Amino acid sequence: EKSKFFVENIIAWYKKHHRKLPWRNTQNPYHIWLSEIILQQTRVKQGLPYYLKFVERYPTLQDLASASDNEVFRLWQGLGYYNRAKNMLTAARHLCENNQGEFPKNYQELLKLKGIGKYTAAAIASFAFNEKVAVLDGNVFRVLARYFGIYTDIASPQGEKEFRALAESIVPENSSEYNQAIMEFGALQCTPQKPNCMFCPLREHCFAFAYQEQESLPVKISK
Ligand code: ADE
Repeated sequence: EKSKFFVENIIAWYKKHHRKLPWRNTQNPYHIWLSEIILQQTRVKQGLPYYLKFVERYPTLQDLASASDNEVFRLWQGLGYYNRAKNMLTAARHLCENNQGEFPKNYQELLKLKGIGKYTAAAIASFAFNEKVAVLDGNVFRVLARYFGIYTDIASPQGEKEFRALAESIVPENSSEYNQAIMEFGALQCTPQKPNCMFCPLREHCFAFAYQEQESLPVKISK
């Protein structure tokens, strides 16, 4: 049916079209965490050199935890939003002091860490541990809203609920690849402006394509 077609075709598309990015070749939760924090307010092209620098300078969680604030801030220079770096240091030191330097291994435990919200917890749980949780970010909202024809405001509590329920209901066992795939699909194919519907593997079942509603979806009522 419609969801199965969606999942299968997004994964097939991803296998063919994804960008080769270093954090996609690792299951190290600490490295994945670094990448997701860097990419929170930063584009891939700009964040990539910082990711490589950080992994080289601090290969393990222990290395990061024992670094000084100032050294980390110096390496962070150019990324801005220094609270991201500060929260990472707090979390790293906490894990080294209270958890034998072990990274939490599931979504619920990850959520408890300083600076880790639902998106980042889901990304780490899925990419590192293949936990069956859905990642929800702007790309995912857009792809789901268009394909399934959902007009609920993505910025409302009701929207958050509805999209989360839908997203959770379709994540396959292979959550790691699927979650990367849907985000990449949103970033490269189902873009905010001028999505590439001409060459889209989902178009025969896509609501937005059928009704030419690509520009109207997702609905975001700014506050
Ligand atoms: N942006 C946020 N997380 C990402 C990821 N894992 N891959 C590519 N872009 C991203």
